[in-house]
Amino acid sequence: MVKEMFPRTIAHGYSFCNRTDEQEILLGHINSGNHVVLIAPRRYGKSSLSHQVTERWISPQSKRMGVGISLYSAYDESAAVQLIVTGAQKAINKIMPLMPDMEAIQKFLKSFSGLGFEAGLKTDGIGFGIKFDLERKSAKPLDITSIGAILTKMDDLAHSLGWKIVFEMDEFQEIASLKHGKSIEAQIRDAVQFSVATSYIFLGSNRHMLEQMFTDSSRPFFSMCHSIRLNRIEAVHYQKHIGDASRVNWNTEMDIELLDLILSLTERHPFYVNSLCHELWKQEKVPVRSDVLDAWRCVVEDRVLPLRSEFSHLSATQKAILNNLADEPEKQITSISFITKLLLPTTTIKDGFRQLQNKDLVYMNDNGAWAVMDPCLAYDLRNQRNPQEL
Ligand SMILES: Nc1ncnc2c1ncn2[C@@H]1O[C@H](COP(=O)(O)OP(=O)(O)O)[C@@H](O)[C@H]1O
Ligand SMILES: [Mg+2]
Repeated sequence: MVKEMFPRTIAHGYSFCNRTDEQEILLGHINSGNHVVLIAPRRYGKSSLSHQVTERWISPQSKRMGVGISLYSAYDESAAVQLIVTGAQKAINKIMPLMPDMEAIQKFLKSFSGLGFEAGLKTDGIGFGIKFDLERKSAKPLDITSIGAILTKMDDLAHSLGWKIVFEMDEFQEIASLKHGKSIEAQIRDAVQFSVATSYIFLGSNRHMLEQMFTDSSRPFFSMCHSIRLNRIEAVHYQKHIGDASRVNWNTEMDIELLDLILSLTERHPFYVNSLCHELWKQEKVPVRSDVLDAWRCVVEDRVLPLRSEFSHLSATQKAILNNLADEPEKQITSISFITKLLLPTTTIKDGFRQLQNKDLVYMNDNGAWAVMDPCLAYDLRNQRNPQEL
């Protein structure tokens, strides 16, 4: 059995399907020292793409390193600062031992005094590195202005010794919900703006918030980064990817009808393609149609409760729109036929639809029609009214 062919976590190596163009664009930006924001709905493959490209790029021989932090647990300013500083510390620790002499190291450490952090040497018995004292023993309020300085020092150090860094910040939108989030954004912006050896990659699971942070002209990150938007992976790439996995696992071709069934049930949503295939690839024999349908029901059963709960909190208008789009995607939500189906005023439909867009509950499919983002929710909504769907 090929265990990691269809992971439900980050896809990498042979579990990574295509995204050739996006990989090259991201790699090009990193090589040019540009900063990037990856924008896509959750579970479309932002982390996987960033990881795949960074892994390709990293090379200790060529003095290229990657550091990644996730801000999902940044519940307050000091937690956010701690996460960012820990990321910078990781990078500094890789480079600092390569400094020419102890005097240079001591000077570097001293330059942190006054930033609100105590920087000292630590040793693990093999090598040594920098350690910031983040346990704030004094009652002094946390100095957010230190973040920019620490990131800049990391960049200076890398530059002085010929290193390049990719610094990935996942769940970056969490910063925006903090009370002093704007100050932290401004600090990071300063470091990003003047960095010479570091490329920053920003990503996050809340597309709407992230988009606002990077495209609103009043926000610190406006026009600071190149954006890369991810769509669903094209059918032709998935057919090859899943077909190859079939040959590896069962030494046989999978019928094209079966491949198409997998892609139509999951609507090529990367998370659901992997969830369904993960179930199927547990089988001893190459699956037949009924196996695919059974496995899809298992996936739906596994996923549907939180989706129903999210649905239950929507307004009546939003529910009505989703129900209709689950039945039939719609090119023009203000068309007479759609309004007639919903029996609601156009402005009400427009408002409800905009809220659904902001919550990433709808997306435009390949035919240019609006559809329900989550194929499992769409299936469940249809199945509630017409249980014979499968
Ligand atoms: N290029 C890809 N090839 C195959 N599977 C992928 C690809 N990108 C993402 N996936 C799968 O999709 C799901 C979500 O991926 P992830 O990178 O965590 O998305 P995001 O960071 O956008 O939330 C995971 O199951 C992952 O394995
Ligand atoms: Mg992610």
